[in-house]
Amino acid sequence: MKIVLRYLRGSTREVMGTISRIGVSIDSDLLHRFDSFIKNKGYENRSEAFRDLIRDRLVGSAVGAPNVPVVASVTLIYDHHTRLLPEKLADLQHESHAIVVSTLHVHLDHDRCLEVIVLRGRSRDVQALADRLISTKGVRHGRLVMSSPEIASHRGHQHHHHHHHHGH
Ligand code: NI
Repeated sequence: MKIVLRYLRGSTREVMGTISRIGVSIDSDLLHRFDSFIKNKGYENRSEAFRDLIRDRLVGSAVGAPNVPVVASVTLIYDHHTRLLPEKLADLQHESHAIVVSTLHVHLDHDRCLEVIVLRGRSRDVQALADRLISTKGVRHGRLVMSSPEIASHRGHQHHHHHHHHGH
């Protein structure tokens, strides 16, 4: 495979990075389906779609390890008439207050609630709390999304020795 390296100057706020251009051999039918897929998703070109897919797999792989720092959101749909359910969900969050960043509660209609809980901590702790919240009786649907800002950005993969950490 021919790989051409092209060097670009980074912006003033970023550590200088490099862009590598690669050629990929791919089955025509698979490429056609990929092009349809990314068009439906709103991508303007293949490169950005490839980068997103690669980052998604890298993040997914990284947060699958038990002891890595992650940020996450847990989305819950539940019936607030279920006996003691709102109290149980609040108790679980208080028990793990160290990793609960924020909670958004929406009263969807007369019976149903939507709750989005933002978590930040070690992957195993985040997963454990999410499992307990989602499995609580009366929760109709729950989903955990974990991410790693370090993996998703390119900061963790700089080839330079000098890392400049900027304030938040
Ligand atoms: Ni509600």
